Amino acid sequence: SRQELEHRTKEIKKSLGKELFIPGHHYQKDEVIQFADATGDSLQLAQLSAENKDAKYIVFCGVHFMAETADILSGPDQEVILPDMRAGCSMADMANIHQTERAWEKLQDLFGDTVLPLTYVNSTAAIKAFVGKNGGATVTSSNALPMVKWAFTQKERILFLPDQHLGRNTAYDLGVPLEKMAVWDPIKDELVYSGELQEIKVILWKGHCSVHEKFTVSNIEMVRKNDPEMKIIVHPECSREVVSLADDNGSTKYIIDTIENASAGSKWAIGTEMNLVNRIKDQHPDKQIISLNPHMCPCLTMNRIDLPHLLWSLESILEGKTNNIIKVEEETSHYAMLALNRMLAKK
Ligand code: 13P
Ligand code: SF4
Repeated sequence: SRQELEHRTKEIKKSLGKELFIPGHHYQKDEVIQFADATGDSLQLAQLSAENKDAKYIVFCGVHFMAETADILSGPDQEVILPDMRAGCSMADMANIHQTERAWEKLQDLFGDTVLPLTYVNSTAAIKAFVGKNGGATVTSSNALPMVKWAFTQKERILFLPDQHLGRNTAYDLGVPLEKMAVWDPIKDELVYSGELQEIKVILWKGHCSVHEKFTVSNIEMVRKNDPEMKIIVHPECSREVVSLADDNGSTKYIIDTIENASAGSKWAIGTEMNLVNRIKDQHPDKQIISLNPHMCPCLTMNRIDLPHLLWSLESILEGKTNNIIKVEEETSHYAMLALNRMLAKK
């Protein structure tokens, strides 16, 4: 039963003590997050991985790219474990290293040495390594603005992988007009743009988040029509149209903090993953909170981590045969760390 699973999980956590560290992303299920030693958005979880040197076992409750980042930033004697290897990220899967190398070659032909690559942390370690090798950095949804600003002090143009929406929303906020942004299509191997080629400042990889694409302009229109007093806050992985019509946007931590600081009785429609929306709703009975899309939007891969998988990982540690170890190969790790450190150094 659920109670037995919870009881056993508590027991093992207690017996492993400081040897064990469980970071949990805000999109994790309640049944999992209750056992997290720390929760956070992607930036906070990356920082924690770099700081925690005590734990021998880091059981990462999140998705594969986050566990890879934790491995890259953790010490050589620490083991990062992902409770279910199927917990990937469809966005990260939209950019592989071969496609990226092909794109880079074409961009060098078109623009010479004027492009700096940046990658959203929601990407494979191989992509982070590619970016690190080429002088670029990682970004998260909570530091994309200063990171893109920094990138423009380095080079005339940026290639932003793999989320076109975070890239477009951020560049737009920095004043780059849409006609100076192009989209690289990794399936057709082609650059799509409407303005002048040499005027292009931002090349957006054609990737997106399958959860956040479900929040639409018509969802916003519906909320505005039903209740004009309701505020709309969305994650910047939503499209430009949705972000521009919303009242506010930001990372998971930003969304949590904004609702936390809002006045009692305020009304909010939130455009982000379902587990987080439900949790915010439970934690703020004094506020009226709904999902921007009335059909709650789950991240299927985040949800692969459930209590049985978490417990299974903990049991395997106790038995001395840890499963699902995430170990990024040394050279990849070295270059990916350059990209991550260029970001972490700016905090
Ligand atoms: P943040 O928690 O950094 O906002 O990231 C959201 C996300 O989609 C993680 O996969
Ligand atoms: Fe990937 Fe989107 Fe799920 Fe985050 S919410 S892990 S970006 S698919």
